[in-house]
Amino acid sequence: MSTSVLIEKLNQALGWELRAINMYAHYASYIRGIHRLQLEPHFSSEATESMVHSNIVRSAIVKLGGVAVTERNPTAIRHTTSYLEMLAESLITETKAAEVYGELIPMIEEEGDADLYDAIEQIYLAEIRSVEELRRLAE
Ligand SMILES: [Fe+2]
Ligand SMILES: [Fe+2]
Repeated sequence: MSTSVLIEKLNQALGWELRAINMYAHYASYIRGIHRLQLEPHFSSEATESMVHSNIVRSAIVKLGGVAVTERNPTAIRHTTSYLEMLAESLITETKAAEVYGELIPMIEEEGDADLYDAIEQIYLAEIRSVEELRRLAE
């Protein structure tokens, strides 16, 4: 596998993280009613986590000599004031993130960079945990 294929996949992950930052910040602003008590902090911390993830992925791209994307993944961010819809959209986003990181893991294993492997595995596990948690939340 060429480094450019790996960089392309890392950029895909970065695009989804950049989108997640916007989506979660948006939902944190629009969540209303009693659910705001719990979901405003939840969405805000997800936005921050996505920022942390995007920084790790971007650094990896720089280290590999690639050019990191500056635009988010173009998938529309659905505006809603329904907390259930927000959670459903969150589940879709986290599932997508878990899928992309899941594809990255064997690619990085092949590349043989142990530090990068550890960093991406940590993110992958965080996305998997989010998917599991959202499945319960969105019920
Ligand atoms: Fe993430
Ligand atoms: Fe996530």
